[in-house]
Amino acid sequence: MDPFSSDAAFNSLYPAHIAQLASRHWTPLSVAKEAAQFLAVGDSPRILDIGSGVGKFCLIGAHFYPNAFFAGIEHRGALNTIATNLAGQLGITNTQFFEGNFSTIDFSAYQHFYFYNSFYEHLELSDLIDDSVPISNALFHTYNRNLYKALKKMPAGTRIATFHSTENEMPTSYEVVGTGSNEDLKFWIKL
Ligand SMILES: C[S@@+](CC[C@H](N)C(=O)[O-])C[C@H]1O[C@@H](n2cnc3c(N)ncnc32)[C@H](O)[C@@H]1O
Repeated sequence: MDPFSSDAAFNSLYPAHIAQLASRHWTPLSVAKEAAQFLAVGDSPRILDIGSGVGKFCLIGAHFYPNAFFAGIEHRGALNTIATNLAGQLGITNTQFFEGNFSTIDFSAYQHFYFYNSFYEHLELSDLIDDSVPISNALFHTYNRNLYKALKKMPAGTRIATFHSTENEMPTSYEVVGTGSNEDLKFWIKL
């Protein structure tokens, strides 16, 4: 079966305990395709998924937009390993997954960004992926502030697609230029 034909097909590539987190934590296929279409513009753009989980957004984007490069940064090592292994299994080469906190990444190495409300689990403790990383209300604010500052430094024309964002992390210099078929998907461009 073509793994890119449906969410069920794609999610079945993951171990069962990861697949069962999909409806709450991993980007739906249709959202990933629309977000990637918005971001994969220009000559060989480099796109960063801020909190890449098990790689679902990057792998779908990389499959449908081979002209673009999709990197992911993820602080849960076990999820990052699953993403890296799946890229190898699918033979996808225009993607790479890094383990670490996004706060340590140099955003200037990328042109465009994807963000699926990665810090929300600090506010909704019943929705934790696992207990392998520190969780606190204070970290929600720290990460939001770090992301705000990093996005603010980016040049005019920078694009970001957000999914279920609280929008606290978005500097006012970014303008919403559209929404996806799913209205929780928003497209932003820096003025
Ligand atoms: C809602 S999931 C989205 C996963 C992926 N972007 C996707 O769309 O399928 C958010 C991910 O962000 C990760 N994350 C949260 N805070 C992070 C941080 N400070 N640095 C790196 N990753 C982080 C979480 O571990 C989780 O895997």
